[in-house]
Parts: sequence; structure tokens; C-alpha cells
Amino acid sequence: MGFRVAVVGATGLVGQQVLRVLEERRFPVEELRPLATSRSAGRTVEFGGTTWEVGEATAGALAGVDFAFFAASGDVSKELAPVAARAGAVVIDKSNTFRMDPEVPLVVPEVNGHALARHRNLIASPNCSTIQLVVALKPILDRFGLEQVVVSTYQAVSGTGAAALDELEAEVRAGVEGRVHGPQVYPQPIAFNVLPHCDRFEAEGYTLEEWKLVRETRKILEQPGLAVTATAVRVPVRVGHSEAVWLRTREEATVDDLRSALQAAPGVVVVDDPGAGAYPTPLQVAGRDEVYVGRLRHDPAVPRAFWLWIVADNLRKGAATNAVQIAEALVAAGAPSRH
Ligand SMILES: NC(=O)c1ccc[n+]([C@@H]2O[C@H](COP(=O)([O-])OP(=O)(O)OC[C@H]3O[C@@H](n4cnc5c(N)ncnc54)[C@H](OP(=O)(O)O)[C@@H]3O)[C@@H](O)[C@H]2O)c1
Repeated sequence: MGFRVAVVGATGLVGQQVLRVLEERRFPVEELRPLATSRSAGRTVEFGGTTWEVGEATAGALAGVDFAFFAASGDVSKELAPVAARAGAVVIDKSNTFRMDPEVPLVVPEVNGHALARHRNLIASPNCSTIQLVVALKPILDRFGLEQVVVSTYQAVSGTGAAALDELEAEVRAGVEGRVHGPQVYPQPIAFNVLPHCDRFEAEGYTLEEWKLVRETRKILEQPGLAVTATAVRVPVRVGHSEAVWLRTREEATVDDLRSALQAAPGVVVVDDPGAGAYPTPLQVAGRDEVYVGRLRHDPAVPRAFWLWIVADNLRKGAATNAVQIAEALVAAGAPSRH
């Protein structure tokens, strides 16, 4: 007894992690349909001790599936996700396409799992940098309220996909050998560099990534008026997004209050012993499913203001793990039924 599961984008960075996470967490998969472009059709993936052939992502290939994880591109989601949902699949979409649609729940299970109750076969999983932010903000919001949040991100190259990782590695090799490797994925070299530019530029001088952090955080935390602002920065790290977050609570709180709220929160690990050199880094958290928080401190110049350092694996909790946790929550709630 299990589910028919399609993974659209199964050959990509996120899709491959979805397969690993489904396997590790023993999600009951009866039939797997790994889907990608026609270029990948005929390749194979290993899953659950069986070899499965990759098919082309088409409406026909999605017919009859129970769960469809979309991890391809926004255009693919726009075209095929509604088709799959109408045909009866529960679609969990990793793209930006439906996140701000008021009819579509935008879910991080340990933060707003209750929003799943009103899904109509289409659920959006948030942007990677938003997921780790809201997991850490939620316990603080619940206990002390939030007045303002200022985020600076340090985002890994894998957040842009497989081609960006190849570009980083080619640029590093070229740099070491004294050659120049012209950038193609990013507007400027990412190796040995830092780009204050994630996704395209939009209104008021902010990038789309920065607007995603603002809008998605307000939607997930159900705080439409929350003052949130962000600067999103790409750094030459392979896996693991970091965030320096300044926040102001509504109620009085101490650093120890925040620490105990975070320690008790689901999905959060506090690593905060600066004297012993203990704070989370991308290399330490790569491959993990929790959100790591350290460098907790008070801002002495501003009442009720604090700093946090938040790190998580963008391909795991920032993408695949969150999507699989959404499916697990739906199964625990009894829908859809198994074959
Ligand atoms: N990387 C992250 O940290 C992250 C986090 C959150 C959300 N996301 C989102 O997740 C999605 C996938 O990202 P990624 O990083 O895994 O990208 P990626 O490594 O570039 O992989 C893209 C995947 O999509 C497939 N694909 C592309 N165009 C397609 C088409 N027209 N029809 C069918 N399949 C198509 C590719 O198939 P081929 O191999 O055949 O080309 C590949 O399997 C994106 O929407 C991204 O915004 C990514």
C-alpha cells in the first residue's frame, strides 16, 4: 500500500533531494514517476532499491498520480501544476508561481501547518531563504510579538540550480590556474566574490528574492503589516544559506528568553557558545534538516532589539524536506487515500 508519486524536475538539485528525502523518511511510495525535460527522458534514477526511468514532464505523465512534487521551473509549474491538480493529484510546488495566490496555502508545517486544511490540491512551498527565517521567527512571534525584522542573507550558489554550481566550480578552477572563466548564470563572477543580487531587480530597487522574503514571511506568519525588509546576497558557498537577522519584539524579552523559546521550537537547533567558537556555518549544516540559530545577542542601542544568525541547508529544509513534510502532514490528516 502506498502512493503514486511524480517528481517533476527529478534530475535537478532539488528534485534529486526530494527523492533522497522521500527514501530516508520512508514515505510510502508505490510507484515513482521521475519527470524532467525530453533531454533527460530515458535516463534512470535509483529509488527504494528499484531503478526507475525518467520520463518527459507532460500532462499525460501526471495522470493518475496521488502526489506531484514540482521542482522544475516557474513556467513548468504554471503549465502543468493546475492540470495535475485538476486531475486529482495533490501538487506541492517549489516554484514562485503560486506562493502569493490567496487561494493557495504557503506552508512550512511546523509554522503554519493549519493552513493545509484549506488546500484545493495545490500547495506552495516557500522560498528557501524564507523557510529558515520563519522557522526561527515563529517561536519569538508567539511569545513576545514582532515589531520589525531586518534580514541580510548570505545565500549559497546551489540555490540557483545545478548550472550555477558548475559555474562556481569552473570559475574557482580557472582562478586557481590564472585563467578567466566568463560568467553565464550570474551577471558577474561568483567565485572569490559576493553579489548583492539574487534573482532579478524589481520595484523600488529591491530584488525579487528580497520581495519574496518580505511577502512570504508576512503570509506564512499571518502578519500582513509586519515591518520586514531584506538585502539578499549571493556568496561563493556550495550549500547552505545564512542570514543575519535584526529584530525588535513587541513585549520585553531577554536574550535568555529568546534562547529558551528557540530551544523549545520544533525544527530549531540552537548552537550558541561563542566563547567555545560554537556557531552554525553552512558547511556544518549541509545535509541536515533543521534550522540552526546562533550568535544571539541584544542590541544595546535599541530597546527590545536582538540579533540572530540563522543557517539551514537550502536544498533540504529550504526545499525538499519542507515539501516532503507537507506531504507527510497531509497523509497524517488522512488524505489522499492510499492504493
Ligand atoms: N535550489 C534551491 O535551493 C531551491 C530552493 C527552493 C526552491 N527552488 C526551486 O526549485 C525548482 C528547481 O530548482 P533546482 O535548483 O533543482 O534547479 P536545477 O538544478 O536547474 O534543476 C531543474 C530541473 O527541472 C527540469 N526542467 C527544467 N525545465 C523543464 C521543462 N521545461 N520541463 C520539464 N522539466 C524541466 C530539469 O530537467 P533536465 O535535467 O532534463 O534539464 C531539472 O530536472 C525551481 O523552481 C527553483 O526556483 C530551488
